[in-house]
Amino acid sequence: MTAELSPIDRAKFVAAKRAVDYVEDGMRVGLGTGSTAAWMVRCLGEIVREEGIRVTGVATSSRTADLARQVGVPIRTLDEVKWLDLTIDGADEYDSNLNLIKGGGGALLQEKIVATASDQMIVIADPSKQVDTLGAFPLPVEVIPFGWQTTKALIEEMLSNIDVLGRNASLRLNMDEPFRTDEGNYILDLHLRRIGNPQQLSLVLNQIPGVVENGLFLDICDIVVIGNSDGTVEVR
Ligand code: 5RP
Repeated sequence: MTAELSPIDRAKFVAAKRAVDYVEDGMRVGLGTGSTAAWMVRCLGEIVREEGIRVTGVATSSRTADLARQVGVPIRTLDEVKWLDLTIDGADEYDSNLNLIKGGGGALLQEKIVATASDQMIVIADPSKQVDTLGAFPLPVEVIPFGWQTTKALIEEMLSNIDVLGRNASLRLNMDEPFRTDEGNYILDLHLRRIGNPQQLSLVLNQIPGVVENGLFLDICDIVVIGNSDGTVEVR
């Protein structure tokens, strides 16, 4: 599984492998989305197949569900399982309080629902995801397609009263068409550069009609497992 990995993939793999050590027999596990989370799903498949560990996975995207099935991780819906022991997911940024920006892969809505329905959330990351202050990575906001330009204008207007450095939003595209989430919604990426008060921003964003959810994960993550390209791992 790991022959000739690039340094960045080695970092992601070792973080994923270490996080899977937290999975115990019989656990219900939320499965994140993205390239780092994909390593975790493969590692989980390996312990299911080779060590006979029994897990029930709840995927945070159709991509992750497809991969889980391929590698032998049994999948159920969140409504079937209702509550999870653990979610393991990647992140686009994390700060020293373990607050996160997520949604670079467009799965933030299901990711937030699943992480919130879990006793514990573990983030797996390489060191490039660590920041002093959130916001260099554009903040993804999921919006419904109806009236999205009005929603975007309302968000940009609201940002003038918020402690951020940048104030413009862009519609995420996929091959010149609006990117669609698994729910059929659009993503606006907010180019903020620095988020002074993530709690305030998250609350205000979610009050705007048309906004479904934002990519700030505040007080949700419990542990960050950081993999390095030399194979070492740090747990915070
Ligand atoms: C998807 C996410 C991902 O976890 C995040 O974008 C990190 O992805 P990667 O591990 O590929 O860097 O939030 O919506």
